[in-house]
Amino acid sequence: MELKPEIVARIEKLDEKYKAMGQNLTSYLDGLLFADYLTYWDYIHLDTLLSLQSPKTSFPDEQVFIMYHQITELYFRLCMVEFEQLEKKKTMDVDYFISKLGRINRYFDALISSFDIMVDGMDVAQFMQFRMSLLPASGFQSGQYRMIEICSTDFVNLITKDQGTKYSGIYTDSMIDGMYEHMYWKAGATELSTGQKTLTLEQFEKKYSPEFLSLAKRFRTRNLSAIYHSLSADQQKEEALINALKHLDVNVNINWKLSHYRSAVRYLQKDPVDIAATGGTNWQKYLPPRFQRISFFPYLWNNEDMENWGKNWVKANVFGKKD
Ligand code: HEM
Repeated sequence: MELKPEIVARIEKLDEKYKAMGQNLTSYLDGLLFADYLTYWDYIHLDTLLSLQSPKTSFPDEQVFIMYHQITELYFRLCMVEFEQLEKKKTMDVDYFISKLGRINRYFDALISSFDIMVDGMDVAQFMQFRMSLLPASGFQSGQYRMIEICSTDFVNLITKDQGTKYSGIYTDSMIDGMYEHMYWKAGATELSTGQKTLTLEQFEKKYSPEFLSLAKRFRTRNLSAIYHSLSADQQKEEALINALKHLDVNVNINWKLSHYRSAVRYLQKDPVDIAATGGTNWQKYLPPRFQRISFFPYLWNNEDMENWGKNWVKANVFGKKD
């Protein structure tokens, strides 16, 4: 049988490839001959994926709770894949930057529009029972959420406002350890009455602090804000780029946080006394973006935007009022 020229050409290329590595093509062709065909279920590890849910109770809705958290973490991982590519790009061009921001924004758009799966998709009575079996674990302990923040902005934008002024301007790697003590989110799991860190926070720090610190140093000059500032003055003025960055700021720091806040309101708000949150804090004073006022790119907003950070969304979506 005569081989088609395109097959011969490929065999020759393969031969070159393996020779260059001191390998024998015949052995690799034997491997190909005996290898099984790839299946969909093996490729995506479907059986493993579907075995990763281990509810702590027999309430069926606990599975909704577990899987939606897992779905969220996969989207967070997709965001990290984009941050890692941006980090490695030696010469940045605006179109590439915008396309990566577009991807991260789409992942967050998907998460924000699907959050109703949490807000409306579980039976409140079941939730109230199974949540007690999960203490002291909390979504607050999502390390990837913090990694997204670290890769998005200068570290100084993630510390409490009273400390921020100390570090204005350029900061160095060695200053990051000191700044870390003042991360804004530590207030989300510190007992209000005693100032004590909760067990939720202690365990979180034990697992992730070294990783957060090394990531913050690695991304000090490669986070999105730093990349933006490394562009030329003309590039920084590109409207599509500014819009993509603002979209991300609103997506992560307002819209995701408020979609999430709606679930806390649905399950934990009960007049006259609210149900204690896992973090042991007053979640109503911590979770709303209008109290946190975290922005990845504060210089892209005016004073009025920052004053009203998160407010219109709350009015329209949590309290049902429209301006
Ligand atoms: C019924 C659903 C949910 C409720 C009632 C809820 C409740 C809470 C509460 C009360 C807090 C404050 C800290 C604490 O006391 O534990 C918190 C923080 C947090 N949760 Fe959830 N949560 C829900 C779903 C989720 C999901 C699906 C995720 C996805 C990973 C998540 C991720 C987070 C994160 C990242 C924080 C920290 C937020 C921040 O620092 O602003 N939560 N959650």
